Amino acid sequence: MPGLKKAESNWVDGDRFFDRDGELGVLRARAENGTHTLLTAQRRMGKTSLVRELLRRLKEEGRFETVFVDLEDVRTAADAVVEIGVESRHVHGAWDRIRSGFANVLRGIDELAVAEVRVKLRAGIDPGNWRQKGDAVCAALAKDERPVVLALDELPILVNRMLKDHHYRITPAGKRDVDEFLSWLRKIGQDHRDRIGLILSGSIGLEPILHQAGLSAHANIFSPLELKPWDEKTALGCLAALADTCGLDLPLAAGKEMCRRLRCLVPHHVQRFFDSLDEDLRLRGRNHASVEDVERVYTDEMLSVRGQADLDHYESRLKLILGPDGYRAALALLTEAAVNDGVLQRAAMDLYREQFRIWTLSDHPAPIDDVLRVLEHDGYLEPWGDDEYRFVSGLLEDWWRARHGRHFIPVARRAGSQGA
Ligand SMILES: Nc1ncnc2c1ncn2[C@@H]1O[C@H](COP(=O)(O)OP(=O)(O)O)[C@@H](O)[C@H]1O
Ligand SMILES: [Mg+2]
Repeated sequence: MPGLKKAESNWVDGDRFFDRDGELGVLRARAENGTHTLLTAQRRMGKTSLVRELLRRLKEEGRFETVFVDLEDVRTAADAVVEIGVESRHVHGAWDRIRSGFANVLRGIDELAVAEVRVKLRAGIDPGNWRQKGDAVCAALAKDERPVVLALDELPILVNRMLKDHHYRITPAGKRDVDEFLSWLRKIGQDHRDRIGLILSGSIGLEPILHQAGLSAHANIFSPLELKPWDEKTALGCLAALADTCGLDLPLAAGKEMCRRLRCLVPHHVQRFFDSLDEDLRLRGRNHASVEDVERVYTDEMLSVRGQADLDHYESRLKLILGPDGYRAALALLTEAAVNDGVLQRAAMDLYREQFRIWTLSDHPAPIDDVLRVLEHDGYLEPWGDDEYRFVSGLLEDWWRARHGRHFIPVARRAGSQGA
């Protein structure tokens, strides 16, 4: 078993990247035949790593040029175009054309001074001309000697942000902006089909957001690809490779117990669990892990307040996409499931539909179902048994119970005490 270096930054590639051979093969074939992709998965599943690794390999082989753009902190279409321009500076032929297209602002600056390039491009791209400037940047990329794979990471976050105001409500202006931006992107994808392959990726689903805004048609030039959690064999392979690098003796039974506790094998959670176990044993001066060690580390480290750091991200993403009312409903539904062994029962959902009507003074019960759709789409809950839902991840379920379960009264008991 070849060793695997431990992950040290946000995303991994090269000798820190494990497996995903199937997905790399699919994405490579799509790049070759001009199929655009919408890659979705819950956060920490390894989307950024997968795309970075694909781009790294394609570039190394020399048949493609690659541009990776992170849209997580971008707020407008104009800024998205700026970022595409900034990241195109590594594509030499295209960059020469972009430079001459922006000669008035880019004259005389060093192409690798990224902050400077960004400031200058911002000065040249504004709400009135981003479309035309974006066309010019993409035309420059399309004219490159080699075809270009252009990855736009966290695009749904940008779309969601453009769409909604501070109260997380969809505004007419936001809808217009998103409509314009996605029409533009679609046109780029169509006009340069053989020269620019697009990979959009995001940890909140684009479809549910576009559905909320009635703009669903915009996603249809992109072939979806859902990045799944690892299966047990892959996770065990990753754990064995990490153990090998760290000189840790990790018997199969202990690895299997790690997988059983996590239930959903999100690569980041597998890595975190390994890290905690490795550190715990180092502190004890040991290099052999038992099933009991796995249990102790799970309870004392993974479920500790420090271990729950990732939970904040899950919560803020939900707030971002659902808004305050929807978030309140999601919080209740997830906690309801967490205190009930991870299962959200049908009777409870019905009571929430009823309650939501009271909260919002409307007789429109749809929001609970919208919330459930988002929770399912984003990988929190999965259909279970007869019309019920269950937490997909054992770790998330345990985190949720630890943080929100203690003072929670299930809806059936609340409804019962009101009736009494
Ligand atoms: N293929 C992989 N091999 C090894 N570790 C991975 C892999 N994919 C993801 N990870 C782990 O998950 C973490 C988060 O990955 P990232 O690509 O940032 O996920 P996402 O973009 O989906 O949020 C990485 O830092 C790494 O620890
Ligand atoms: Mg990412």
